[in-house]
Amino acid sequence: MCGIIGYVGFLDAKKTLVDGLQTLEYRGYDSAGISFFTENGIETIKTTGKVSVLRELVEAQADGVISTCGIGHTRWATHGGVSDTNSHPHTAGKVTLIHNGIIENYQELQKELAEKGKTPVSQTDTEIAAMVIDDCYDGNPEEAIRRAAAKLVGAYGFCIMFEDIPETIYAIRSGSPLVAAHTKNGSIIASDMVALVSHANHYFVLKENHIAKITDNEIIVKDEYGNIYGPTIHHISWDVGAAKKGGYDHFMMKEIHEQPEALRNTITPRCLNGMPDFSTDQVSDEIFQNIDKIVITACGTAMHAGLIGKNMIERLARIPVSVEIASEFRYQNPIVDKHTLVITISQSGETADTLAALKLAKSKGAKTLSVVNVKGSSVARESDYVLYTHAGPEISVASTKAYTVQLSIMYLIAFRLAYIAKQISEEEAKMYMEHLNSVPNQVEEALSFDNQTENIAKRIAKANSIFFIGRGLDHALSCEGSLKLKEISYIHSEAYAAGELKHGTISLITDNVPVIALATQPDVYAKMISNVQEVRSRGAKVILITDADASVDASLCDHQIVLPETSPLFTPFVSAVVLQYIAYYVSVEKGLNVDQPRNLAKSVTVE
Ligand code: M6R
Repeated sequence: MCGIIGYVGFLDAKKTLVDGLQTLEYRGYDSAGISFFTENGIETIKTTGKVSVLRELVEAQADGVISTCGIGHTRWATHGGVSDTNSHPHTAGKVTLIHNGIIENYQELQKELAEKGKTPVSQTDTEIAAMVIDDCYDGNPEEAIRRAAAKLVGAYGFCIMFEDIPETIYAIRSGSPLVAAHTKNGSIIASDMVALVSHANHYFVLKENHIAKITDNEIIVKDEYGNIYGPTIHHISWDVGAAKKGGYDHFMMKEIHEQPEALRNTITPRCLNGMPDFSTDQVSDEIFQNIDKIVITACGTAMHAGLIGKNMIERLARIPVSVEIASEFRYQNPIVDKHTLVITISQSGETADTLAALKLAKSKGAKTLSVVNVKGSSVARESDYVLYTHAGPEISVASTKAYTVQLSIMYLIAFRLAYIAKQISEEEAKMYMEHLNSVPNQVEEALSFDNQTENIAKRIAKANSIFFIGRGLDHALSCEGSLKLKEISYIHSEAYAAGELKHGTISLITDNVPVIALATQPDVYAKMISNVQEVRSRGAKVILITDADASVDASLCDHQIVLPETSPLFTPFVSAVVLQYIAYYVSVEKGLNVDQPRNLAKSVTVE
C-alpha cells in the first residue's frame, strides 16, 4: 500500500519522481505528492487525485525549477481522510518525509508531542512520525532516525530529507518494503521494483532497521549497530516493457494474455526427465518428509490458489491440508509444530498478514515453504524454502497471471509430494507432468474466448448480485471468480458450494439473478446439473461453464461456455481465464477503472 520513491542524481528529480509515481500508482491512488530540494530549500507539491493531476500541477508550478534530489508518494489512505493536507510528503520542522505503512502508536506519540507544544496540521500517523524524527534531530540525521525508530510501533518504509542536508535522502524500513539501486544517473529508492526498472538492471533490498544514506554518487547502508553493511545485489530480469501496457487498454488484459508464457516459465524449469523436480530451486525432498499435515496460509487470490492446492495435495498425496486466511491464522494460536509444513503463497511477498502468519509458524517450529512472485521480498526471505513463480511484474490490482502460476506450483508440489509419499508411481507422476506441460497451450486456446465472454458480460453487467456455484475444484475456482468480479465491477457476488445453496442462499435466487455455474468435474457432473436445474427453476439466468466432454441440454442454461479440451484435474487453469475475462468485461461495460478499483491497492502491507 502506498508507492514511495526517492531520487538523487543528474536527471530532473521532479520528472523522475512523477514518472516513477506513475508506475507505482497501482499501490494507492487517493493522492500524490513530491518534495524536492531547490536553491531556496525544500519545495512540496501535493494534491488529492491521481498522479496525472500531480503532473499537471508540477508542470504549472515548478516549470524551470532546477532540482536533482527529491521524494515522491502515491497514497492509499489509512489514517486521515483523502485531502490535500493529508497527502504526503509531510513536513515537520527540518524534516520532510514520505511513508508506506501504519504507525500504530501515533496517538500516544501525539500526546507526548502536545506536551511539548507541538501540534500536527494533518490527521495522519505519518506527520506524527515526521514530528518525532524532527523532535529527535539535533544535527545528526542517523541518530535522529534511530532514536525515533525506537519510539515507533507499526510498519514503515520512510524516505526522509533534512532541510539542512541538501542533495541527500535517508531511508529506513520496518515491515514495509524498500528496494534501491545506484546507477550512472544517480541513486534511486522505491517501495517496488517497477519504479526501478527504467533506471537500473540491478537492485538491493534494504534490510529491516538498516539505514540508507542516498546521494548522487553512492548509497551507504548501515546496520542497526551503525556498521557499514554491503547489501546483496540482485539482477532485475524484467525489461522496462514488462511494466508497461504494451498496446492493451488495461494492464489486467495484458496480464491475462501473459499467462501462457508465465506458466511455461514457471513449469518448465521444474520438469526434469519428465518428473516434478525442485532441485533448481534448492528445495530438497527433506521438506516434504516427516510431516503429518500441511497448512496453507495466504490472503485473497493467493488464498484461493491455496484452496485448489489443498484439493490436489489431499487427492493425490493423501496428506491432510488446511487453508487458513493469514489474518485469521495469526490470531488463533494455530496448532503447528515441527511436523507441519506451512506453505505461504503471495504474489508481492509483502502482504503484512501473510508475512506475520509465516513468522508465527516459524516461531512454532514448523517447516516453511513460500510460493512468491517478487524475488527477494520479505516473505521469500523469511521462509526456509522458496518456490518462485515466474509471472513477471503484475501491475493490475486484480490478480490474474499470478494466480494461475501459483496454481501451477501447487500442482507441482502435489505431484512431488504424492510421489515421495508413494501414493503415485513414477509413471503416474510423469503422466501428470505431461498434462501440466500442456496447460500453457490450453490457456492460450482459452484466450480466444474473449468475444464470447464479452457478450455474456454485457448481459449481466446491470445485475445487483451474481452467484458462482461449483463443487470440488470448481467450488475453489468459483471463490476466485467471485472475488475477481466484485473487486473490479463493484457488483455484489458470492461463491457457493453448489450443494450448500439450498441451506439458505437459494432464497436469494429470483428472476434473472445471474448464476455462473462451473461443471467441469465428471465425478460430480450429474449433481451439478441438478443444482443448476434448482436455480433455473427459480428464475436464475444461468451461465454454464462445462468441460469439452459434457453434453448439455440447451434448455438447461441461458449461455454455455465449453472449455478447451483438457483433463478434468487441469480445468481450473482454463476456467480461470474465462472467469477473469467475465470480470474484466463487466468492469469495462460499466465504465470502471479496471486496473485501479476503488478503495483497493495492489500490495497490502498493513493489517
Ligand atoms: O501479494 P499477495 O499475493 O500476498 O496479495 C494477496 C491479496 O491481497 C491479493 O491476492 C488480492 O486479493 C488481489 N487483489 C485479488 O485480485
